[in-house]
Amino acid sequence: MIKKSYQYLQFELEQAIGILTIDREDKLNALNSDLIEELRSFLQEISDKPLSGMILTGAGEKSFIAGADIAAMTEMSPKQAQDFAFCGQHVTLMIEELRFPVVAAVNGFSLGGGLEMALACDYIYATQNALFGLPEVSLGLIPGFGGTQRLSKIIGRHRAKQLIYSGRKIKIDEAKRIGLVLEDFESKDQMLKQIKNELSKLQHNSPHAIGVAKTVINKGADLSVEEGLEIEKSQFAQLFDSYDMQEGTKAFIEKRKAEFKGK
Ligand code: COA
Repeated sequence: MIKKSYQYLQFELEQAIGILTIDREDKLNALNSDLIEELRSFLQEISDKPLSGMILTGAGEKSFIAGADIAAMTEMSPKQAQDFAFCGQHVTLMIEELRFPVVAAVNGFSLGGGLEMALACDYIYATQNALFGLPEVSLGLIPGFGGTQRLSKIIGRHRAKQLIYSGRKIKIDEAKRIGLVLEDFESKDQMLKQIKNELSKLQHNSPHAIGVAKTVINKGADLSVEEGLEIEKSQFAQLFDSYDMQEGTKAFIEKRKAEFKGK
């Protein structure tokens, strides 16, 4: 399914569920420019594949992603930093725009760019040793891969400001309490098993409809309710032209299981 080979990425496929692992374990999976370029290339490659869902995780037990590569950033000019932010932001947009659900499986540190990658996923599950934060201001920086925008939308502007101004790192209990993390697990293995199980259950539903729901929810997050309702209405109507809608409704009437094709 994936033709290119990548230095910092591992990809496995199990029954149409992809598991993408960021693999730079000696640096706690910190994101350098090469890794970000690989992510862009990989996400481009995977975007038209018929997956039921994908899991994003980090190699090892200690870290999901410990942020953008600080050592590399010390060498950057403002122009290079702008390109770096552009590419990192592009990765987050590509994740959001995938037509299938993407779950962040956070195994340990999820700091800076690591939290920003997780925020671009559809939702976040985490192990009990997970630690979250946007500590950029402690380096004289601000989040540059979407954190100033997405964190507010997920946990609310005031909580986001408090976390970003302080650079405070939060543990799993607080991350769950504020709605950043949906579920926690004792081990990475347990977490991956549970997510695979949940994603495989989505295979009973229309992949096309799930993709449209994802797009409408994401687009609506940036709009007024009225503007969002317009998009919902138009996408709802367009589904009446889809194979999956014809099949799903017919199968209900005929009291049989629907055979969806994702179109
Ligand atoms: N960028 C570059 N390298 C990083 C990194 C990052 N964001 N995070 C960790 N590393 C590297 C360390 O430099 C170290 O490399 P070395 O073995 O060559 O010295 C290696 O990963 C292991 O990290 P270390 O700091 O020894 O592990 P630790 O368990 O003591 O601490 C952290 C873990 C995550 C608390 C600590 O590494 C840290 O604070 N990292 C930076 C987090 C951050 O500010 N991220 C936002 C960046 S914008």
